[in-house]
Amino acid sequence: MSKFIHPIVLCGFMGSGKTATAKAMGAIIHSDYVDLDAEIWRREGASIPEIFKEYGEEYFRRIERKTVIQVINESPKIISLGGGALQNQEILDGIKEQSILVFIRPDFELIFKRLIANKKRPLIAREWAESRNLEIVKERIKNVYLTRLPLYEQAHITQPVESDWSPYQVANKIFDQVSQFQSF
Ligand code: S3P
Repeated sequence: MSKFIHPIVLCGFMGSGKTATAKAMGAIIHSDYVDLDAEIWRREGASIPEIFKEYGEEYFRRIERKTVIQVINESPKIISLGGGALQNQEILDGIKEQSILVFIRPDFELIFKRLIANKKRPLIAREWAESRNLEIVKERIKNVYLTRLPLYEQAHITQPVESDWSPYQVANKIFDQVSQFQSF
């Protein structure tokens, strides 16, 4: 597996299983993985909800931009991004130049089911606090998803995910796809 010369970077919406998949991929190749949100937490000494609460989303996005560049330059084998880390085309292009970017793509219905079961993420908590209405929250979150989709879709590789697939199954499917991608 040492043939993976570029970092494999996982992108996709909140709740798509990026962190669990990165962890499984790391275990399969006996390598560490870097989760961008955990790395931000470690470097800032504050969790993502704390950063949103104390300093706001703009500040978080600034830190996220800075950290993603630093982490990719450190060339770990596997990186999982936060759902909003592909903030614009420039960031996306920069990440693609230095990595194999993989879009983890469960259906939105599955994603939303996972997100609503655990409303800890700041964007979900904020929407829920505003309306306390599942349909309204779903519509708003779906809009965010649809806005980001054109960025995710530019990843080198897309990996669909079914609800009963374990992170290990997803991880192995990604390795298969990466091997094929690299043999071109
Ligand atoms: C966010 C996704 C989160 C985290 C933050 C913002 C987003 O990461 O970075 O809450 O804007 O989609 P996950 O995708 O790992 O939940």
